[in-house]
Amino acid sequence: LYRGFKKMEHTFIAIKPDGVQRGLEFKLVGIKVVVPSKDFVQKHYHDLKERPFFNGSCDFLSSGPVIAMVWEGEGVIRYGRKLIGATDPQKSEPGTIRGDLAVVVGRNIIHGSDGPVTAKDEINLWFKPQKLVSYTNNAEKWIY
Ligand code: TYD
Repeated sequence: LYRGFKKMEHTFIAIKPDGVQRGLEFKLVGIKVVVPSKDFVQKHYHDLKERPFFNGSCDFLSSGPVIAMVWEGEGVIRYGRKLIGATDPQKSEPGTIRGDLAVVVGRNIIHGSDGPVTAKDEINLWFKPQKLVSYTNNAEKWIY
């Protein structure tokens, strides 16, 4: 995984408390980068195991680094899906992530839970509860 680590330059980036607390968007409460195993992604896509594209989707999702996130906010599940666009990028509206940046359904860049039940299951699968943060915004402390 870390082949070339010694030669390659790395940097550490952190959003400082003012950047986080000003709450300009939905609230990011968990993030990690991971190469999931095939076994793991089969659990993620378990609802699709009878579909013809199940195996291909699992091979693809486990083929490299995934940036996994948990976002929090009013209507975030539905709005997340709206921002992401339709499953097939060719049916996604311009201005959506898939509509602007993807071409084929099997390489549609980004996933978002499709409802409250799947969101709960997927968050439980990808994150241990103690890896998620809980905080309230104190924006008045950061606005000058
Ligand atoms: P699905 O859960 O139906 O869509 P979404 O990701 O929008 O919730 O399908 C999961 C993934 O499976 C989808 O993102 C891409 C892949 N897929 C195909 O490769 N072919 C297909 O016909 C469909 C419906 C999905």
